Amino acid sequence: METNAPKRRDNKKSLRVKVISLGNAEVGKSCIIKRYCEKRFVPKYLATIGIDYGVTKVQVRDREIKVNIFDMAGHPFFYEVRNEFYKDSQGVLLVYDVGLRESFDALDSWLAEMKQEMGSQANMDSIVFIVCANKVDLTKRRVVDEGEGRLWAESRGFHYFETSAQSGEGINEMFQAFFSSITDMCENGGKRPVSEVSVGFTKEQADTIRRIRNSKDSWDMLGVKPGATREEVNKAYRKLAVLLHPDKCVAPGSEDAFKAVVNARTSLLKNIK
Ligand code: GTP
Ligand code: MG
Repeated sequence: METNAPKRRDNKKSLRVKVISLGNAEVGKSCIIKRYCEKRFVPKYLATIGIDYGVTKVQVRDREIKVNIFDMAGHPFFYEVRNEFYKDSQGVLLVYDVGLRESFDALDSWLAEMKQEMGSQANMDSIVFIVCANKVDLTKRRVVDEGEGRLWAESRGFHYFETSAQSGEGINEMFQAFFSSITDMCENGGKRPVSEVSVGFTKEQADTIRRIRNSKDSWDMLGVKPGATREEVNKAYRKLAVLLHPDKCVAPGSEDAFKAVVNARTSLLKNIK
């Protein structure tokens, strides 16, 4: 039979880590944290005022991890309060609402704010990022699909999880992956392990697929000005075809993007003399 005492002594040293939550107001940052820490969901919106702070203890393999959670307010009004809390974070929960495209588009500006506030400390390779595509329970109002979210996240070496603070879907798995990655990073001398960042495609490929998905017409899709010549269209097409050809590009959505580019070129060439 096992006894408790020797087990504790065998444990590796415990770790203290700091994590923060980022994302537009009302995307569900506080609810995600509450769902994990308190196993409950509050439907009424209670905006975070500046910042909320909490501590939780988790066990990752044979280590005890003391997690300090700084839950940021997403409203621009609280920028002055938030900006003090970016420094020394080992993990970031980047949250958007799958029913609000602007909250997804805002992820880049959240990263930019963080980089700016961290100043010379801004070594993003020493931070674990988890992207939470939240409110997946509200399927009818969903406008950002999994492929698009996953592409944005994985092209940056970030984890991607679909979550619902309301139903609890994905929450435990997401936090387990988050804390386990932070522990791996601490054990790896503060560097994100390389295996996590090599996803087999480049940021340029991912950004191009995203741009193509969001383009407003065929000119825009090929990245040429309306009224461009056949040569210009063909040149732009060749560049995109090489970048996105499904034999060369494993990024999610590359096949659809490639087909869209082929169709855009065909329809433009029909109308150019
Ligand atoms: P700020 O503190 O203002 O930055 O907002 P926040 O991102 O912390 O949002 P909060 O967690 O307070 O949630 C905002 C609203 O969305 C609340 O009314 C929540 O009940 C609701 N909400 C959060 N997560 C979910 C979810 O997964 N599904 C659904 N249906 N509603 C959610
Ligand atoms: Mg909040």
